[in-house]
Amino acid sequence: MSTESLFQPFKYKNLELKNRIVMAPMTRAQSDNGVPTQQITDYYARRAASEVGLILSEGTVINRPASKNLQNIPDFYGTEALNGWKNVIDAVHENGGKMGPQIWHVGDTRSSADYPSIEMEKASAMTLEDIQDTIAQFAASAKSAKDLGFDVVEIHGAHGYLIDQFFWDVTNTRADEYGGKTLKERSRFAVDVVKAIRAAVGEDFTIIIRLSQWKQQDYSAKLANTPEEMEEWLLPLKEAGVDIFHCSQRRFWEAEFEGSDLNFAGWAKKITGQPTITVGSVGLEGDFMAAFGGHGTEKADLTELTKRLERGDFDLVAVGRALLQDPEWVKKVKEGKMDELQDFKAESMATLY
Ligand SMILES: Cc1cc2nc3c(=O)[nH]c(=O)nc-3n(C[C@H](O)[C@H](O)[C@H](O)COP(=O)(O)O)c2cc1C
Repeated sequence: MSTESLFQPFKYKNLELKNRIVMAPMTRAQSDNGVPTQQITDYYARRAASEVGLILSEGTVINRPASKNLQNIPDFYGTEALNGWKNVIDAVHENGGKMGPQIWHVGDTRSSADYPSIEMEKASAMTLEDIQDTIAQFAASAKSAKDLGFDVVEIHGAHGYLIDQFFWDVTNTRADEYGGKTLKERSRFAVDVVKAIRAAVGEDFTIIIRLSQWKQQDYSAKLANTPEEMEEWLLPLKEAGVDIFHCSQRRFWEAEFEGSDLNFAGWAKKITGQPTITVGSVGLEGDFMAAFGGHGTEKADLTELTKRLERGDFDLVAVGRALLQDPEWVKKVKEGKMDELQDFKAESMATLY
C-alpha cells in the first residue's frame, strides 16, 4: 500500500499545507474556566512537530451565555482566553504546523449533570435579537482567529449542536424566517453566520464548515435524503462564503446515497466543486462513539482511504482518535512504520499528551 497521496501538498487560496492530513476537532475540556493552558499548547505543538498538515482545535465557544456545556471547554473570546490561544498558535507555527480554531455554540444540549455549577433553566427559543447577537459573536470569534494569526477558521455546524439544530426539522420548529419546511429555509441561520464571518475576515481567509447528517441525538438522522436535497443545503453555504466543506461521518467508507459508493465528502465535492475533508474511523476499525462508552478499537490499514483520495473523492483527511492516541501518527505513516501504529485505547481520552 502506498500512502504517497496523503503526503502531497495542498493549496487553496493562500492556504498551503504540507500534506493532506488534518487533526479532527476533539473536545478535551481541560482549559481551566475556558482559558487554554500551557499543557494544551504543548499538546497541539507536539502534533504540529510530528507533521500534522492542519490542526483543527477542539470546539471553542463564542461569547454567548449558553454557548458551552462544560466549564472547562475553552472560550474563543475575552483577553485571557485569547492570550492562551495566541500561545497555542505561536507554538504550532514554531513547530511548522498550521491551525484553525473550531468555533462552536452547543445550543440546547446542556444538562445540569454536565454543568453542576449553574442553575439550569429549560431552553427557550432564541429571539431574533439573540440570533443577531449570536451571528455577530461567531463573526467576532472568527475575526479574533485571523487577528491572532491562525491560518483558517472552522464553524461547527455538525452533530446536533446549535447550527445543526437550525438545519434539522426535528429541532427547528420556528415560524419565522429562520424556520421553514425546506432545508434551504432552515439553512438561513448558517448562511447568515457564514456571511458575517466572511465580511469580518475578508476574502482571502479560509472558512471551513463542519457538517454532518447524523446527530448525537439520532445517529440515523439525515438532513439530505437525495443529492438534490444536498445541493439545496450546500450551495447556499458555498455562495455565502464557505471555502472547504468538512463532512463528518462516523465511518468514511460508507456511501451517502444508493447507487454510488461516494461518501459525504465525495458528494459535497461533486456538488459544490469546493475542496472537502473526509473523516470517520481513519486508521481504526471501530467508530468513535464507542470511545465515549470507554471502549478502544484496533488499528486498521489505509488502503480504502488512499484509494478514494487518489480517485479525487476528497482533498483532505481528518484523523481523530488515532492522533489523540499517538501524536506521532502522521510521522509514522509517512515513514512507513505501520507496525508502530497503535490501537486506540479509551484511557487516552483522559490524558493530554
Ligand atoms: C474525545 C472526542 C472529542 C470530540 N470533540 C469534537 C468537537 O469538539 N467537535 C467536533 O466537531 N467533533 C468532535 N469529535 C468528533 C471528531 O472530530 C471526529 O469526527 C470523530 O472522532 C471521528 O473521527 P475518528 O474516527 O478518527 O476518531 C470528538 C471526538 C472525540 C473522540
